[in-house]
This record gives sequence, structure tokens and C-alpha cells, in this order.
Amino acid sequence: MSPKNSKRGESYSQLEAGTKRAKPVQHQRGAEIQPYGKIAKLPIALDEKVCAESAENLNQLLADTMTLRDMYKKHHWQVAGHTFYQLHLLFDKHHGEQDELVDEIAERIQLLGGISLAMAGDIAETTMIERPPRGREEVPVQISRLLEAHELILKEARTMAKQATEAGDDGTNDLLVSDVIRTNELQVWFIAEHLVDVPVVRADPGPPSQLETDGHPEQFTLKRQR
Ligand SMILES: [Fe+2]
Repeated sequence: MSPKNSKRGESYSQLEAGTKRAKPVQHQRGAEIQPYGKIAKLPIALDEKVCAESAENLNQLLADTMTLRDMYKKHHWQVAGHTFYQLHLLFDKHHGEQDELVDEIAERIQLLGGISLAMAGDIAETTMIERPPRGREEVPVQISRLLEAHELILKEARTMAKQATEAGDDGTNDLLVSDVIRTNELQVWFIAEHLVDVPVVRADPGPPSQLETDGHPEQFTLKRQR
């Protein structure tokens, strides 16, 4: 090595030594600062027991809401048939609204001093919503699964809202009633109407006993009441 090169090598190692503190310290592990299920109480004028009960309830609701949210995305991607376009858009809209609820529920758990569930494995172990298959299903099956998931969430949210009120946790009650229940009820209406079996083009003439022809074999009119 020429004297010139050895000088350059020296300056490189000096540079490296000088950046030691600026390098990321990777692959670290450590003790948890709060174990799951324990409350790190904040000064919100609520008893620790009340916070623990609300956090536990909300984690169940969170797992079910995250599952419903993800089912909306699955159906958004996999929907098929002549209603593809509108359902593709509607499922994604509902996914976005459920995602907002997920964040509200999770952050309420944290402010109660609890720990929100977050990872897919923990959600899969906790949710009470039936797991759909990986494959694609028909629209009526997709919507039936969504309606069942909504109803499960509505039932538990109403029970939890009552418990929260009785315990004096008005904030949790408000989240459950104003956001979770109202959003889920509205979404149920928007998807349930797709399972009402009405004709698309030609009106259903009704049962034959109530009808008579008016001379035109293809046209039907209701009998007059006498
Ligand atoms: Fe998309």
C-alpha cells in the first residue's frame, strides 16, 4: 500500500469511529413495559376496576370489528356478478368506516390504561365471528356473513354500553352508542337491502287469485274490491 492509500484507510476508520453514536442499534428485545391485561391508570377520574372492565369488553369488540373490517376488504376484492361495481364500491366504503371504528375503539382502550389488541394472530384467536373460507363465495353468502357479523357486534355493543353506563364510564358508553351501534345499524340497512328478492325489470303480478286479465293476455290488473 502506498503512503497515500494508507492515509486514506486511516481517515475512513476515523470516520467510522466518529459515527458510532449515529448508527441504529438493531435487533433489540427487552422486557414489556406493561403486560397485557394490566391497567396503567391515567388521571381520568375513573376507578381502576371500571377501566379494566371496559378495556376487556372493548378488546373483544375490537377483535370482532377488525375481523368485520377485513371481511369487507375480502368481499371488496372477491365480489362477482352483475352487481360487482356497486358492491365493490360499497364494501370498500364500509371497510373504511369500520377502520375508523377500529382506531376509536383501540385508542379508547389505551386511554383507559389498557392495552389494545393489534396483531392478526391475536385477533384471530379472540374474535367470535365465523372464519370465512379463503376461496370466493357468491354475493348472497358474502352478504349473509357480513349481516351475521354486524348482528354479533350490535348485540355485544348494546350489552357493553349498558355495563359502561352502570359503571359510570360515560365515554365508553358514548363511543359504543354514538359510533359503533349507529354505524353498524346503518351498514346493515345498506347491505341487507341487496338480499330482498325483487324483480329487476318486470313487476311481479302477485298471486293469480287476486288478479284478472283485462283482455290483454300479457297484462294484469288488480281486481276491483266490490
Ligand atoms: Fe380497492
